[in-house]
Amino acid sequence: MRVGDVRTDRQASAALQVFARRVGLRIENGRVRRSSSRFCLGVEHGDYNGTDLFGVGTDRFIWLAYRPNGTARIRLFSGNFPRDGIIEIRGAEVPPPKTVRDAWARFPYGVAWVLRREGIPVARGFDGVLLGNIPGGGMSRSASLTLNLLLTVLEVNGVPPPDPMRIVDMAQAVENDYIGSPCGNLDQIMILFAKAGMGTYYSPARRSVRHIPIGAGAPAFRLVSLDTGTERPGLETSTYRIRRAECEELVSLAAPEFGIRCLADVRSPELYRAILARFGESHPAHCRRLKYIYEAQRRFTRMVRAWRAGDLATVGAVMRADGHGLRDDYEISGRELETMCDLARTVPGVLGERMLGGGDKGAAGALVLAAAVPRLRRAVERAYPLCHPAYAGRFAVHELNIVDGLTVGPLRA
Ligand code: GLA
Repeated sequence: MRVGDVRTDRQASAALQVFARRVGLRIENGRVRRSSSRFCLGVEHGDYNGTDLFGVGTDRFIWLAYRPNGTARIRLFSGNFPRDGIIEIRGAEVPPPKTVRDAWARFPYGVAWVLRREGIPVARGFDGVLLGNIPGGGMSRSASLTLNLLLTVLEVNGVPPPDPMRIVDMAQAVENDYIGSPCGNLDQIMILFAKAGMGTYYSPARRSVRHIPIGAGAPAFRLVSLDTGTERPGLETSTYRIRRAECEELVSLAAPEFGIRCLADVRSPELYRAILARFGESHPAHCRRLKYIYEAQRRFTRMVRAWRAGDLATVGAVMRADGHGLRDDYEISGRELETMCDLARTVPGVLGERMLGGGDKGAAGALVLAAAVPRLRRAVERAYPLCHPAYAGRFAVHELNIVDGLTVGPLRA
């Protein structure tokens, strides 16, 4: 079985043990920590703009099987990157920040580095083997990996679990300060707090989280990820970095006159219109970014209410409108992502669709009536390879369930 085809915990455990034996790591009678992917239900690109956030954990995972090895060395092997061999870390001796580029080792290095900076001792080592089936770009593979490693290192070292928001901050710091990715905190929050059958509602004003049961009474539905087969480079080299900078620039231009601290502060139509009147001509692109955030924020409350009420038609309509805003105003989508959306939109039973996550490449997503999933799959399988032959063998349609973000338990032989 290919690594990416692993679906169940049982398959993952078996594959992890095969890898461990092959490379000589000792994980027998150890534990497995499983971390999910996430699907942002709104506001996409709202985290670094200060909006409320809503999302769920989804069942594409990273599994880490591990066992303390009685030394001070962490020894890790990833079944997804076998050529990288075993990664070794002693204490927090790691390369300086932002120097390791394309190797997955930058994640465990970053975890060790952030923990040392936080004054948390990393003295006890372990052997660990990893395996993941989260597509790259759009579903938070990097945050899932970071959280998984971080929680495992803390547990092996007997550190009492810190406040969850501190874990979010440390995981974000691994990406911001060690790896150099300008990501926000959406992914970490949506994975760390994810609960089966629930949406996670994050309010940045209070840094608080609450869970909202979603889809009650609704007809059977699926969230579907439409993986374009493209690989998105890190956010630091994507349009993402430019969009963040534009949003921050507009805030600093508008702050003296209008008193805003982030684009999410632009809530009233009067303030919105005043800012457009002031900067529309001099900074048209910046104002389009604001337009998306302003409109998506206005749709957000309706969307959360509709999720709670099981009103899928409204949820889908909001998802579609957000997708158009991300494509036309925020201009953060990509050709292959939009092909997936255009195809999905033609299929009866698809209620909404849009690009997911950081942008440019990766995966789009859709809200689909369960009965219509096979139809969507057929439509994508027929037309997508004709539109993008270069990705003919690499795209995929993943039906997703809403699951817990982090679980841990014994590794079964
Ligand atoms: C990426 C980033 C997140 C968030 C999303 C867009 O996934 O890592 O912080 O900004 O893009 O919503």
